[in-house]
Amino acid sequence: MTNRIPLIAGNWKMNMDHLQAIALIQKLSWTLSDADHDYSKVEVAVFPPFTDLRSAQTLIDAEKFELALGAQDISKHDSGAFTGEISGAFLSKLNTKYVLVGHSERRQYHSEDDSVIQQKVAAAWRHNLIPIICVGETLEELESEGQSAVPIRQTIAALSGHDSLGEFVIAYEPVWAIGTGKVATPEQASEVAAAIRKALSESFGEVASQTRILYGGSVKANNVAGFLLHEDVDGVLVGGASLDAEEFSGIARYQKHIVL
Ligand code: 13P
Repeated sequence: MTNRIPLIAGNWKMNMDHLQAIALIQKLSWTLSDADHDYSKVEVAVFPPFTDLRSAQTLIDAEKFELALGAQDISKHDSGAFTGEISGAFLSKLNTKYVLVGHSERRQYHSEDDSVIQQKVAAAWRHNLIPIICVGETLEELESEGQSAVPIRQTIAALSGHDSLGEFVIAYEPVWAIGTGKVATPEQASEVAAAIRKALSESFGEVASQTRILYGGSVKANNVAGFLLHEDVDGVLVGGASLDAEEFSGIARYQKHIVL
């Protein structure tokens, strides 16, 4: 057992306008608030589109609902002539706690490389946000380099070159398992998580044992238990299944420390 509080994170991607977001958060406040759910033992967070953050935060505050809020991306800049970008300063003013950095869809469709991702991690820390650094291999990389090499390389690149490290979370999301229905086995996910933790320990020392490492890729209520039972997997990053309140709450209910 570790003292890392599991994190169940829902990445809504480009889904849900602000009215749909309000409806989903209202539903979540019902489905997550059953007697079995102990918020001191699991943290639940949602990552809506930027345009939903304000209404989501207002509702969370009004309902005194223990749901953390995250953004899906952050600018590497703090302010200025960067049309369309969103600053970490704006996000932290909305009480956003987390920000996804380097999601494979950003790496793939927006050409984000290790250098951009490293700068976005720095931007998150400048504004007291916790970056969730997303790493994972494509099918081609899996076949040519095996499963752990790319996630380790991406993790170390995102964390190198900073004066000091702030808090961060790693999300291991094999690209071939995202939105495809192909799930890594719990053993594969746990093996890669352990390899990332070992690499973190070798490069950065003590922080490795405190860092939460999540698995993401086609996680559903009916397959989450296998992942969460593994010591090195500290939660999940959920895409499609986070858009349904019942399904997402079903995932949150499985977290390991309730069971222990
Ligand atoms: P799916 O759960 O839809 O496969 O998406 C995973 C993901 O990309 C979460 O960030």
